Amino acid sequence: MSTGTDVLVSAVRAVARDVLAVELRQPGGAPLPGACAGAHIDLSLPNGLTRQYSLVNALGEARQTSYLVAVGWDSASRGGSQWVHERLRVGQPLRVSAPRNLFAMDPAHHKVLLLAGGIGITPIFAMAQQCAARGLDWNLLACARSASRLAYRDELKALAGARLHTHFDDEAGGPLNLGERLAEVRRDAIYACGPAPMLDALVQATAHWPAGSVRMERFQAAPAAAGERQAFELRLSRSGLTTTVSPHESVLDALERLGVGHPASCREGLCGTCEAPILEGQALHLDAVLSPQERAAQQRLMVCVSRCAGNRLVLDL
Ligand code: FES
Repeated sequence: MSTGTDVLVSAVRAVARDVLAVELRQPGGAPLPGACAGAHIDLSLPNGLTRQYSLVNALGEARQTSYLVAVGWDSASRGGSQWVHERLRVGQPLRVSAPRNLFAMDPAHHKVLLLAGGIGITPIFAMAQQCAARGLDWNLLACARSASRLAYRDELKALAGARLHTHFDDEAGGPLNLGERLAEVRRDAIYACGPAPMLDALVQATAHWPAGSVRMERFQAAPAAAGERQAFELRLSRSGLTTTVSPHESVLDALERLGVGHPASCREGLCGTCEAPILEGQALHLDAVLSPQERAAQQRLMVCVSRCAGNRLVLDL
């Protein structure tokens, strides 16, 4: 990340088993750009990795004094979670991006169900605070493998009271049956963040809901099946360059190979930094950024993971 703001870690505390909350402030105490619930920041770590974390404190102010993120221990960590849990200390200088929101709440939604699984509670906790501040009719269903793993449990109880419902796999004997749980739910919208099996079950259980009423943020984009990784021709309309994207490289790889500078951050289809306008061709969307409606519109492509469904793709680059 070339741009951003220098911050210091001002506090670190455990907010659940294997979950650390990290507070970041500017060294001189100057305020940071504000954000609404659902926003995330890019955090550049000293080990060279950049990771995206949802803001826990995002109440829609123009400026805010700190950024608060929560980082879960990931046994399959490729360096982000592990570094935070093992190396991060108060006083550590870091660099953050301005907040970016791909998971904002729609003000037209007044009766809202918030659904969180595991560390997915971080944007959902921010949404609960926003719902409470705006006087909405809201409920929160928070799921975790056990009660000790639910981050901000006491704060959630204090904020939500009877609006909070929990499901702990170890007490219930397994994961929540979302189909059963949602059968009677009558809400304008569901906002959900959690592991892929939970969100896949949510998609199935709400297939009959109106477009735009079920919104979710995923931790991981879906990997391309082997059969989907075909070579295709990539044309860049502004620069006039054409190349073949091999099955083994991404569009972003191809851009870098051609020497075309293009912004990117997560390189996993999660952050939306690398989006590019589509001029021609059918995209094979493999990111976790675009909604089903945005995918169907075929106007934007996350070049770090998404590909071409046909033989030729023309981007406005
Ligand atoms: S770089 Fe994050 S979505 Fe592509």
